[in-house]
Amino acid sequence: MSKAILQEKDGIPVYGNFINGEWKAGSGGETFENRNPAKASEIIGHFQSGSAEDVEAAISAAEDAKRAWAETSAITRANILYKASEILASRMNQVGRDLTREEGKTLKEGIGETGRSVQILRYFAGEAQQPNGEHYPSANPTTMLYTMQEPLGVVGIITPWNFPIAIPAWKIVPALAFGNTVVFKPASATPLCAVHLVSALEEAGLPAGVLNMVTGSAGTVGDPIVRDDRVVAISFTGSNEVGLDIKQVASARGAKVQLEMGGKNPAIVLADADLDHAVTQVINGAMMSTGQKCTATSRAIVDRSIAAELTERLSKRIGDLKVGDPLADGTIIGPLIDERSAERVAGEIARAQGEGVALVTGGERPASLADGHFVTPALFADVAPQSRLGQEEMFGPLLGVIPVDGVDEAIDVANKIRFGLSASLFTRDLGRALQFVRQIHAGIVHVNSETAGAEPHVPFGGYKGSSSYSREQGKAARDFYTQIKTVYLDPPPEA
Ligand code: UN1
Repeated sequence: MSKAILQEKDGIPVYGNFINGEWKAGSGGETFENRNPAKASEIIGHFQSGSAEDVEAAISAAEDAKRAWAETSAITRANILYKASEILASRMNQVGRDLTREEGKTLKEGIGETGRSVQILRYFAGEAQQPNGEHYPSANPTTMLYTMQEPLGVVGIITPWNFPIAIPAWKIVPALAFGNTVVFKPASATPLCAVHLVSALEEAGLPAGVLNMVTGSAGTVGDPIVRDDRVVAISFTGSNEVGLDIKQVASARGAKVQLEMGGKNPAIVLADADLDHAVTQVINGAMMSTGQKCTATSRAIVDRSIAAELTERLSKRIGDLKVGDPLADGTIIGPLIDERSAERVAGEIARAQGEGVALVTGGERPASLADGHFVTPALFADVAPQSRLGQEEMFGPLLGVIPVDGVDEAIDVANKIRFGLSASLFTRDLGRALQFVRQIHAGIVHVNSETAGAEPHVPFGGYKGSSSYSREQGKAARDFYTQIKTVYLDPPPEA
C-alpha cells in the first residue's frame, strides 16, 4: 500500500498509477481530488489524471506479460490469489473504513464489501484449480478428443463507484485466475479501494505487467482502452448509456464484451406474505447503500388489499432510518456519491410530486448535513407502473409502492419494463412462488428475500436491458474470460 503513495500534498497522499509493476505519476503530471461524500471538505487523496500515453504504457505492459502469465500453472496463479486474500483480510477494517470514506456506504457495509472481496479471491483461487475443459468420445476410437479453456489475452476492466472493491474484484480476479492480463480503470469517485485491491495483488507476488491500473476520466482513460485492438475483451459495470456505447465500439472491432447495467427491481408483496419480514426486506433492498445498487428494490408491487397497511408500515420504518455520517455508529443511510447525484435525486422527487404522486415520507436535503450529499429516504404511494417513477432507475434512496390485484397482474407489471436484473416475491404460497420464478423476466430471482446481494460462487447478471446475455462470477466467469480450443489428438500411424 505505501508504495502506491508517491508523495504528499499538504499532508494528503498522492497515489500513482500502477503500470508494469510500478507505482508512478501519470505522463501529464496532473492529479484529481477524491473527496468524502459525507463531508465534502475532506480530501481523501490525490489521484493521477491518466492520459492516453499512460493507457498505451499499461496496454503494452499487459501485452508483454500475457504469454508468460498464460503459461504459468493454474496452481501458481491460485496461490497468488490466495495470498492476496490473506493480505486483504488482514486489512479488512482499514479498507472498509476507506471504502466508507470515499463511497459513503455505512462502515458495516464497507467492511462487509471488503469481506466479500476476500471471499471472491478465495473462491477464484479454488476455481482456477478446477477442470478447464472436457473430454469427449470420438468417432475414431483412437482419437483423444477434448477441449481446453484458454485465456483471451489482455482484458480491459472498467468499474463503477458503488461497489468500489467488490466489483473490481469480481472482474479482475477471475480474469487473472484464468490466465489473462488486465488493464483496469476504476471509477474516479472511488480510486482508493482500487489501490487497496491492486496493492494486495502486487504484494501477493503478481508478476509485473499482469495487472495495470490507470486512474482518470472516461474520455482520456476509458475510451482508449475500449478502442485498442490489443484489448480483446472488455468487462464493464455502469450505466446503460455508457455500456451500450462501449459495446458498439468494442464489438465493432471484434472484442468480447460483457456489460452489467441498470435495474429497476421489483419486490412483489402478496396478501399472504409475512408482512413484518417483507417490510424489513423491502427496506433493506431499497435503502441500504442509500439505494445506490443496480440490484436495489425500487418498485414495491403490492396486492391492493394490503397496500395501505404496507405503505404505512414502510413509511414508519423508513422515517426512522438514521441518516448521517456513515462512519458513525447507528447510521443506516449515508450520503449519495456526489452533489450532482443528490441534486438529481431531489429533482426526481420534486418532479414526481409535481406530477401529483403522493410523497409519504422523506425526500429532503437535511440542512444539518449540508457539507455532505444527503437526501433522506423517500417513499411514494400509488405510483403508476408506466410513470417515470415506475420505469426509470433512480439510483438513490427512493421507493414507490404500486398497488395491483393479485399475482398475475403483479408479475405482468413487474415485467413491463426495459430492465431485468433482480426481482423478489414475498408469499407463503409455494404455487405462486413457483409461478413467479417461471414467469419473471430477471436474471436474479429471490423468494422471501431482498432484491440485492450476490454470492460470489453463483452467476450474476440480468435479463433484457440490464445485461448483455453474459454472466459474471461463479462458473460463468470462466466462460467469459476464456476461449475454447478443441483438440483432436491422434497417434501417428504405426510404421
Ligand atoms: C449486490 O447487490 O450486492 O452495480 C451487488 C451493482 C451490481 C452489484 C450488486 N452490479 O449494484
